[in-house]
Amino acid sequence: MIRALPDITKLLVTILICAPATAHGQPIFDPSEAHPGGNATSILIEPSAAFSGPVSTLPAPDLSEFKKGSTLFYTRWVARPANPPALQGLGPLYNALSCEQCHRNDGRGRPPTNGLFETEVTGTVAQFSQLKSEYGEQLQDRAVAGLKPEGQLMLQLISREWRYTDGLKFSLTTPFWSIKQATSLSIPNTISVRTAPAIFGLGLLEAIPDSHLESLADPDDYNGDGISGVRGIGRFGWRATQGTLLQQTAHALLIDMGVSSKLYPQTFGDCTPHQTDCRALAGDGIEANEKFLQSVTDYVANLGPPPRYAEPKIVNRGRSIFYTSKCDACHTPSHKTGSHRFSWLSGQTIWPYTDLLLHDMGEGLADGGGREWRTPPLWGLGRHKEVNGNANYLHDGRAMTIEQAVLWHGGEAEQSRRSFTRLNASDREALIAFLKSL
Ligand code: HEC
Ligand code: HEC
Repeated sequence: MIRALPDITKLLVTILICAPATAHGQPIFDPSEAHPGGNATSILIEPSAAFSGPVSTLPAPDLSEFKKGSTLFYTRWVARPANPPALQGLGPLYNALSCEQCHRNDGRGRPPTNGLFETEVTGTVAQFSQLKSEYGEQLQDRAVAGLKPEGQLMLQLISREWRYTDGLKFSLTTPFWSIKQATSLSIPNTISVRTAPAIFGLGLLEAIPDSHLESLADPDDYNGDGISGVRGIGRFGWRATQGTLLQQTAHALLIDMGVSSKLYPQTFGDCTPHQTDCRALAGDGIEANEKFLQSVTDYVANLGPPPRYAEPKIVNRGRSIFYTSKCDACHTPSHKTGSHRFSWLSGQTIWPYTDLLLHDMGEGLADGGGREWRTPPLWGLGRHKEVNGNANYLHDGRAMTIEQAVLWHGGEAEQSRRSFTRLNASDREALIAFLKSL
């Protein structure tokens, strides 16, 4: 039906859905861009805490709840039985002891060190797309006393040099992921490696109405721009698999820490029936009570996006290049939030630079789970290094710079990548300065 529309209709539709534009084809600068989270933008106290501030409109009683939630986010779980009987029920298999070990300072994880065994938690995990794998949904690299972990995620990096159209060199590092097994279970042949994303501003993203995301989706490429965009099962995670923050939190408890909750009551966590030794060590009952689950979820919902990194006017040239390179086709600059159970998150004009939709990003970024990834928000992009000491981008953290992240784009974003490679060095710098300012 849609595909059969005559070309003139397509053209009209394209004209109608374009935002108000200047003579140069890009939207006029809007003063609200200076406040990425609208009135809910957080207040910056120190650079390393840029992602940890509450939304600035949080009422006082909720602020004390927020602080309690923060403590729980940082608290390390212990195996049962424990004394005092605080947060117990870790494992039997797990990847980390607390949410914060992976989302350090509410920021992102990093890839493991090249080929080395790491004792520190990196926040990067291997998921299995075959749900029936003998390992369950995810590889757990840690286990409680008396049980062997499943194995270790290993990384080899191979760098290659390329040239921009202007002759300048750049290098791209391709990751080769593998699993060093610690048990004899059969290894799934499809793995999908994900690094923990930063978790601020998510209550605002949760408040974007479904109907609005539906209107951005264009599965049949109705407007003929070569970019489709489809809704995932939900809107959180690198493949938009989780619908709500509550769901995401309960899933993290189960898969990352082996902790049961009312949403996932299985105390054996991610152990499959093939893992009889693990199943034998599981206790019974709900390990994270409803209060824990809600408190941590509410904490995440109320982490505000930080203010812009640089005065928006300074990076105006980069802003133009962002639009002429069609980055905005997926990194939708702004949205208006609908109603949220936290009223202060409702009705805000926000600037997250994402459509929360899935896009085919080409073979270079594809893995066992396919070629489609959810457009990540770009707000806070320039602050990662100050937050947790590492700046690495894309779903598996393979890009060490923003420039490399853009150069990995392919598939529906191939045109954007080409525009980027054809820019001269000073325009590339201007675009990157704009991205860092968000
Ligand atoms: C072992 C590391 C690890 C631990 C521990 C962990 N996470 Fe995550 N988290 C991840 C990874 C990896 C992703 C991306 C998952 C995906 O793409 O499916 C993620 C995604 C998320 C997201 C979605 C972010 C987005 O932008 O869509 C939220 C929210 C989140 N985690 C919250 C939590 C909370 C709350 C806890 C503690 C209960 C927690 N995480 C514990 C690694 C971890
Ligand atoms: C077709 C949709 C699409 C277009 C067009 C597009 N992007 Fe992306 N972008 C994505 C997706 C999806 C990802 C995540 C890919 C992954 O992690 O494998 C991404 C990731 C990124 C990242 C890394 C973010 C992070 O948190 O790790 C940056 C930076 C980025 N894009 C900038 C740009 C710029 C600049 C342009 C224009 C030159 C652009 N993108 C055009 C969809 C798009």
